[in-house]
Amino acid sequence: MKTVLKVLVAAIVPLQFAMAHIEFESLIPNGDRVPNPCRDGAVWADDKNPFGLDFKAAGQQWTADLCRKDSDGDGLTNGQELGDPDCVWTVGAAPARMTGLSHPGICPLDSATCKNSWTKCPNAFSCPAMEEPGVTVRNFTIKSTAVPTYEKMHLCQAFELNNTASPVHMIGSRPIMVNKNVIRHMVMYSCSQKPDQALFDSPQQCYMGSYPNCIELINLWGEGNEGECFSRLSGFRVGGEGFQYGMLSLKPAKTNGFINEAGLSIYFTSNLRPHDQGTLTYGEFELILPPRRAAVNYNHTCPSVCTRSFHSETRYITAATIYMQSYATKGRLSLWRNGALVQDLVPLHAYEYNVPKVLLFDPPVEYRRGDEIKTECYYSTKGNNHTVIFGYGSNDETCLSFMHYYPNNIHLSPLAKLVQCTSISGYNPCWNDTGITPHIENGCNITGLITGDGLKPVYTAMWRNQCFVSMGCSAACQDYMSNTLFPSNACFDPKRSLKALEYLYIRYHSPLSHQAKGYMNSMYPILKSCQSQIETLALLDQARLASKPAVNPPAVKSVPPVDCNTGKPHEEVLTSKNLMVIIVVCSCLVFALLAAVLLLVVRIRKLRLRDSPTKLRNEQDEAGKEKVYNAYG
Ligand SMILES: *[C@@H]1O[C@H](CO)[C@@H](O)[C@H](O)[C@H]1NC(C)=O
Ligand SMILES: *[C@@H]1O[C@H](CO)[C@@H](O)[C@H](O)[C@H]1NC(C)=O
Ligand SMILES: *[C@@H]1O[C@H](CO)[C@@H](O)[C@H](O)[C@H]1NC(C)=O
Ligand SMILES: *[C@@H]1O[C@H](CO)[C@@H](O)[C@H](O)[C@H]1NC(C)=O
Ligand SMILES: *[C@@H]1O[C@H](CO)[C@@H](O)[C@H](O)[C@H]1NC(C)=O
Ligand SMILES: *[C@@H]1O[C@H](CO)[C@@H](O)[C@H](O)[C@H]1NC(C)=O
Repeated sequence: MKTVLKVLVAAIVPLQFAMAHIEFESLIPNGDRVPNPCRDGAVWADDKNPFGLDFKAAGQQWTADLCRKDSDGDGLTNGQELGDPDCVWTVGAAPARMTGLSHPGICPLDSATCKNSWTKCPNAFSCPAMEEPGVTVRNFTIKSTAVPTYEKMHLCQAFELNNTASPVHMIGSRPIMVNKNVIRHMVMYSCSQKPDQALFDSPQQCYMGSYPNCIELINLWGEGNEGECFSRLSGFRVGGEGFQYGMLSLKPAKTNGFINEAGLSIYFTSNLRPHDQGTLTYGEFELILPPRRAAVNYNHTCPSVCTRSFHSETRYITAATIYMQSYATKGRLSLWRNGALVQDLVPLHAYEYNVPKVLLFDPPVEYRRGDEIKTECYYSTKGNNHTVIFGYGSNDETCLSFMHYYPNNIHLSPLAKLVQCTSISGYNPCWNDTGITPHIENGCNITGLITGDGLKPVYTAMWRNQCFVSMGCSAACQDYMSNTLFPSNACFDPKRSLKALEYLYIRYHSPLSHQAKGYMNSMYPILKSCQSQIETLALLDQARLASKPAVNPPAVKSVPPVDCNTGKPHEEVLTSKNLMVIIVVCSCLVFALLAAVLLLVVRIRKLRLRDSPTKLRNEQDEAGKEKVYNAYG
């Protein structure tokens, strides 16, 4: 039987902001006042128009030529349209005129002389349900506050969501922004317990998801989004047995200035809908995007074993979107059953982070127990000189997808419902929690790691290749790792699954068997030492190549493993589940500690040379890990 799926809104939502990118708006006259021809009073924000292209070609400068040009062909020069008819404006100066403006890259819709590439305006946000009887609107805004100067910081404020004795359904929201361009994204979480009073009184600096009692997403707003309108079949239950407290988390777009009256207008209905709604967050938390790559790809799958074990019934997906940042080029979200594609939820499409695509499904998509959902993220770091890692800062990347679904069992905790199915280098913690160990992920047999069977041959080979003869990384060992181990064993390759192995080893309640832990206790310090040596040498080689002909070889900077050189915890998702990510990412710290006990290990080994490595475990290793853990906890 064919499932008929009607995609209701596949429209690219028109942006509310100025010429697409905040950083450009000060570079053209009246850059923050360019009117949107489709909507009165709004400003236009798309740089995919003839003016945007000409601006780019002019080196992103307001030149006399650009000013005198008529990019959209409507008979007026760009300068005339933007209030600089004499082409004398310079950055920072007041334009000759600030009224009577029009868009230099978009023809008036009724123009006889030129035509836009579309025939009518893109669909504006519309949500008839918001106008129905029984609907009330309440504004949740943060108090005026200075934005954090640390780029990765968010602002969090708590609210009481329910103000009626009987439950209501939240049915949608619209953003509130007095000053535009100050917020990059906003999230409202529901809280299972009342947050501290200080969070109700005024906004506090926080990281995304810092509060373990507030992790279930209920609203989501990103740049370019005009609002959310939930399916008529479901809403978030507020009051009664539903949510009582919410935590609004805002990511400022800049690191200076003030945020004034920003937040969400939230719509509630007392006419309860048939189902309670929930939000799923899927994706990969360990992204490493090397510089100068035209194409880098990460995929995440929420595995079948987890959906079979955590979902108590068929779920119905009513909306889906992918969330990436500015390096993203393409994205796709798809539903699979027994290894076969059922359908795309979000088909492969060119991705622009500030033009979010939220797809609504009517009828909803059936998501059965045991089904898999796959998030595909594609990036380009071509113009970029630095490795990009996971995070919510504007120079970071994400590979996340969000879906609304029903029924949401409001009596279960978010963890018990698996509302967050995310992985670290392909390792999904839900695997451990199902008690079922998985098979192969990213070419690495995870079962073998957990039992230790997959570690033993590597341990033996490391012996043969003189990895244990001295502290650090011997030449023979380095050669073995870079030319044999890394290319042939995905579990140990830093570019493939090594992070997953580290995650399994270092996490607080490690699922590794005693045997596996014993091998890792011996192997891990050497592995990390060799890895950083190999990476350093590769970087030096690159630098040498780049500065050819090398008259003076580049100064040898100390090159610590990529992720630890900021000295700041880069990870912002501080739920207990993800706390370990920090530790994995900064595993170089662990290495420092483990290296300290290595001497002792070596000494013991001399006594019991060919013993089972399990016996090499010692309490100090555990104490060392504990210390690192506590430093972040
Ligand atoms: C809520 O915010 C919107 C948008 O800023 C505003 O139009 C409306 O009057 C506010 N409503 C209340 C009750 O304050
Ligand atoms: C909100 O819901 C809780 C739990 O049902 C209830 O105890 C409380 O009175 C409600 N708050 C208001 C202001 O009605
Ligand atoms: C991600 O999935 C796509 C489509 O199935 C596939 O072509 C690609 O090779 C996958 N990428 C990785 C890194 O596995
Ligand atoms: C990246 O490095 C190259 C070579 O060192 C340099 O020419 C270029 O300007 C750098 N680009 C950025 C964006 O920093
Ligand atoms: C992993 O699973 C085991 C039992 O299956 C459980 O005891 C342990 O707490 C789990 N670890 C984590 C970190 O959830
Ligand atoms: C993965 O490792 C386990 C344990 O060593 C082994 O039983 C299983 O056959 C391996 N799976 C594959 C596909 O090699």
